[in-house]
Amino acid sequence: MAGPFISGLLADKRAVVTGAGSGIGQAIAIALGRQGAHILLIGRTSAKLAETSTQVAAAGGTAEIAAIDVRDYDAIDRAIAQFAKSAPIDILVNSAAGNFPAAASALTSNGFKTVLDINALGAFNTARAAYAHFRKPGGCIINLSAVQSFAPVPSQIHANAAKAALDQITRTLAIEWGQDGIRVNSIAPGPVADTEGVRRLFPDEAKSAATIPLRRFARLSEIADLAIFLCLPSAANISGAVIVTDGGQSLVGYTVLKA
Ligand code: COA
Repeated sequence: MAGPFISGLLADKRAVVTGAGSGIGQAIAIALGRQGAHILLIGRTSAKLAETSTQVAAAGGTAEIAAIDVRDYDAIDRAIAQFAKSAPIDILVNSAAGNFPAAASALTSNGFKTVLDINALGAFNTARAAYAHFRKPGGCIINLSAVQSFAPVPSQIHANAAKAALDQITRTLAIEWGQDGIRVNSIAPGPVADTEGVRRLFPDEAKSAATIPLRRFARLSEIADLAIFLCLPSAANISGAVIVTDGGQSLVGYTVLKA
């Protein structure tokens, strides 16, 4: 789906997208491609990144790939420095995430740490590595959070904490790097259809949608379009924001609503 924007709005921009092999990261990468960006696709699995690269090219962009785990700072640092050799980085999208349902009383210490490491430390790693290479002014960082960062979900103590940490990373970097003209924002969706997270956490879509005022999950294209908007000059004064797109769910919690 082409989205609401004319294409080519980000021609000559260079973007880094983590978690680019599937789900929200892949959808944002393709949307950036449609706007003409050149993108470094980061993820753990080469084959998935290659598929995203093909779709970016079909949409009108160009891409290179780096099969890296965002928890590996040295590898992230090397890949980003290499990508930035020819020109500064304009956009960084932190979409790499890991999650599974687990009651706090059963979750292991390493299970908790793993989710914090991927979601929060991973975003710090890429931002820290990219800082020296950002276009200043003009850099734009988008962190993929979730409404559970402020509306906690049971069996999600690890992800609730990780997304809250991620939003504080957003706010802190917005303060520290504002003077460099780098904007930093979070997108906080509720459940997004056709993602690994929803398959794991909300397998019964009809039942879960009944807890949402708009009675439906978000679409991948809606998250991608919001990310594109945040990269455009129209969003030049938006920084440190956590932008919620959840059909109103966080207003009412997770109880089934009356018809
Ligand atoms: N329930 C409880 N604990 C779990 C779990 C589950 N379903 N899956 C993993 N863990 C625990 C493991 O038991 C391990 O802890 P332990 O050493 O104390 O046993 C710890 O988490 C790390 O697991 P491991 O499989 O080694 O981690 P990984 O780095 O290979 O994988 C995950 C990361 C765990 C997030 C994995 O689910 C994953 O890669 N998911 C794909 C991405 C994803 O989750 N997408 C959705 C985003 S919303």
